[in-house]
Amino acid sequence: MSKTYVITGAASGIGRALTKHFSVNNTVFSGVRRSEAFEEIGKFSDNVIPFFIDLCSDDSIKKAAEFINSKTNKIDTLINAAGCVVAGAIEKISADELRRQFNTNVFGHIEFTQGLLDLLEGGRIINISSMASYGIFPFISPYCASKRAMDILFNSMLMETKRDIKIISVKPGVIATPLWNKSIDQNRASIKDCCGYEAEMEYMIKNADKNGRVGAPVQSVVEVVAKADSARNPKLTYTVGKDALAARCVSKLPQTLINSIIKSKVRKLSQNKSEKSGGVN
Ligand SMILES: NC(=O)c1ccc[n+]([C@@H]2O[C@H](COP(=O)([O-])OP(=O)(O)OC[C@H]3O[C@@H](n4cnc5c(N)ncnc54)[C@H](OP(=O)(O)O)[C@@H]3O)[C@@H](O)[C@H]2O)c1
Repeated sequence: MSKTYVITGAASGIGRALTKHFSVNNTVFSGVRRSEAFEEIGKFSDNVIPFFIDLCSDDSIKKAAEFINSKTNKIDTLINAAGCVVAGAIEKISADELRRQFNTNVFGHIEFTQGLLDLLEGGRIINISSMASYGIFPFISPYCASKRAMDILFNSMLMETKRDIKIISVKPGVIATPLWNKSIDQNRASIKDCCGYEAEMEYMIKNADKNGRVGAPVQSVVEVVAKADSARNPKLTYTVGKDALAARCVSKLPQTLINSIIKSKVRKLSQNKSEKSGGVN
């Protein structure tokens, strides 16, 4: 039987692949924030209904929720896939950048979901969280914190709710999507103003560039989301990839041990940089 999906972040990467997958046999409301993406995603299939949503704008979120409420009286699955990465050293990062991270990855999703709850009775919410939610990656800690916050808030919703709604967190490892190159572009200011952390930022840029090319295919996330969507009794959390599973295991170690492993890795980065440039530590 045909179902109704709402997917944010449908313009690219994982959200786009999910739109393609689910729109073959179902109605999919696909959320984008750019007109070109609106046009493009609408051409996928007659089953795709594009809508505008900017998760950093209360007004846009409200209008998006009103639009969906006016078009359907039931959503089977809401997939909160939109997201961005704010990176940098916490000593340097601006409060505005932290707000951008949390507005997009946390507050926007909560507000949008609240606007759709009446339609979700008997349905499910699948959040595209991340292995970053395990909180073990320095220099993208705003991203880690936002994904953890998203998981905590939605899990609380699940514990509190009197509604019949299932809430699932999907935590992918590194996936080859435009997210990585965007993260380099969108974090230029933090990368530039990183005095004392040049080696770490250089590593982050190289790593992001590599991840965007050699990460796992989006299809690996689509398969896990499809499984979580169809399971009669879905798990609360699904990891995608061995790296996400490893992050989950590492996060269970004592925090002091995690810190010393990560700190020694960070120290090596600075040493390598210093040796390459002929400097002395
Ligand atoms: N790629 C990975 O390795 C990876 C791993 C774990 C988790 N994830 C998560 O997977 C989700 C999808 O990411 P992706 O890898 O597919 O990256 P992506 O291709 O960059 O997709 C992210 C989508 O979110 C949209 N978006 C960003 N800010 C927004 C805002 N303020 N309002 C509305 N939409 C916004 C983007 O729109 P524009 O096209 O307009 O920028 C884009 O369509 C994200 O939540 C990400 O954190 C990704």
